[in-house]
Amino acid sequence: MLLPCLLAGCGGTQNALNPHSHPAADIANLFWVMMAVSFGGLALITGLLVFAWVRRGRRGFGGADPADPHPGEKPAWFVVVGGGVVFPLMVVTALFIVGNWAILNVTQAPAASSTAMTVDAIGHQWYWEFRYPGTKAVTADEMHIPVGTRVNLVATTADVIHSFWVPELNRKIDTIPGQQNRILLYANKVGVYRGDCAEFCGLQHAHMGMLVFVQSKAQFQAWLQRQSAPAAKPTTALALRGQQIFLTGACSSCHAIRGTTARGYVGPDLTHLASRTTLAGVTIPDTRSYLARWIVDSQHFKPGNEMPDFHLTGSQVKALGAYLGGLR
Ligand code: CUA
Repeated sequence: MLLPCLLAGCGGTQNALNPHSHPAADIANLFWVMMAVSFGGLALITGLLVFAWVRRGRRGFGGADPADPHPGEKPAWFVVVGGGVVFPLMVVTALFIVGNWAILNVTQAPAASSTAMTVDAIGHQWYWEFRYPGTKAVTADEMHIPVGTRVNLVATTADVIHSFWVPELNRKIDTIPGQQNRILLYANKVGVYRGDCAEFCGLQHAHMGMLVFVQSKAQFQAWLQRQSAPAAKPTTALALRGQQIFLTGACSSCHAIRGTTARGYVGPDLTHLASRTTLAGVTIPDTRSYLARWIVDSQHFKPGNEMPDFHLTGSQVKALGAYLGGLR
């Protein structure tokens, strides 16, 4: 009964003990070293307790008559000082050195000259904004990086403190207002890695997930080029109507769609919304039906988020869906 409950937290693509980069591997190793030493200490102390209990009736181990002088059978002072003070100090010092010197150093912010590219991660209540300096690409909740490439991730926030954490790739890094914190983002294998906000940041802290798509260098370049381009023009009458609703209604005051007059900065950039796989902080899949449900009742999925219900009619929602669904 207990085991399935414990195992339910393991696996998936968000496992700090399944590292896919050098820093993440070092962190996982540190965990195992700490774990092994802790269990070793626990076993030693338990063993001594059992030993003392088994020999409780003998002299010199606590069961003897205190009036009976047998100095030669009592543990020597150096056993008490050595086992109780010196040995634990040595173990704790060794762990401190391993943790601080060996691990903290390798997970430090990367030297500016050692990275091939930069990605800005900006925390919002409650989504992640990703920018690629030197290009016009802006995306939300889903970032792409090339495999085997040292990426300089610069984390900051538009509102409160969040924490960027992709467990399989590196440690956490807090996003502090007015400050830029850096971390190395590196992945040794193509795949999708899930991350989360790791600092309580308000009502929907738990729904502030992100996905890191690690692609081959060629695929990443193609993706970045598409994301840098302005939004696709609507191709059907329905989509054109959706665009008009978006640009003349309230949508454009909060969202940006590059290539149009929509320049809002409250909600995520929607220029290439349809190229993403999820919506709302990796809460729901990015399909037409979920998109429509999100527009109509986003508070159902993420209570407390900033998008109000605009009481749109069914045909308006359909037109918006046709327009946004075409923004690939
Ligand atoms: Cu953002 Cu927790």
